[in-house]
Amino acid sequence: MIAFSEKLIEKLSGAQRVVFLTGSGISAESGIPTFRGNEGLWKNFRPEELANFKAFIKNPARVWEWYQFRRDIILSAKPNAGHLAIREFEKFFPSVTVVTQNVDNLHRLAGSSNILELHGNIMKNYCIRCSKRYDFQTFENSLSSPKCECGGLIRPDVVWFGENLNESVFAEAEDTVASADIVFVAGSSNIVYPAALLPQHAVNNGVYTVEINIERSELSGVLDEVLLGPSGTVIPELIKKIAGQK
Ligand code: APR
Repeated sequence: MIAFSEKLIEKLSGAQRVVFLTGSGISAESGIPTFRGNEGLWKNFRPEELANFKAFIKNPARVWEWYQFRRDIILSAKPNAGHLAIREFEKFFPSVTVVTQNVDNLHRLAGSSNILELHGNIMKNYCIRCSKRYDFQTFENSLSSPKCECGGLIRPDVVWFGENLNESVFAEAEDTVASADIVFVAGSSNIVYPAALLPQHAVNNGVYTVEINIERSELSGVLDEVLLGPSGTVIPELIKKIAGQK
């Protein structure tokens, strides 16, 4: 059993608006590799060759194949106890928002109602010429990068390195974080910007911030609390504690 601080329990007892800022670590227990760290994807693949527009134009088939590889992993993954416990928060708090850097769709599959996908969603795609949108099922098994009816290349609807995030999504994330009663920062190394600005934005607005991670991250020092442990254990234990209190 994890001994949660009195401060955290007190903050939660009066909370109306709860926000979860999540990164790939929250999906690690679903069998989806994170990006950094020992087993991270960037250990065996180079992001500059796979996760940016120039690389896509240079070798669309290679980039498409990489996203099909990741989709295959994600399609066989299920939401884990951490995703499901976050959804459970909606039973105890009037407003729960998930702001995720993940593109794996697992928060949606877990049933969370309010999700902001900062880096897009790997199951969605669009034509780079006419912007027509395509679900991944349209060409589930094609390895070579598919073409739109207009002849344009189709790309995954994810934010690549060097690309801007959707402005309105990020602005909504900033407002949501600034007006929260408590923000959990779960499963992120907090080194990729502008997503990593959000925990700091919470702190700057006097919001109580709690990190949930298996190790300290770049921002542990500025957050109010650090709960060390796998999110698939910590968040379910927290919701059990909350349920017991109510
Ligand atoms: N529970 C909680 N945290 C975990 C777990 C777990 N079971 N397993 C790993 N972690 C933590 C790691 O300690 C690390 O701090 O998750 C974090 C994963 O960090 P990254 O691999 O850097 O992933 P993330 O922070 O989501 O990366 C941000 O970088 O490559 C881009 O677009 C990509 O959205 C991604 C962004």
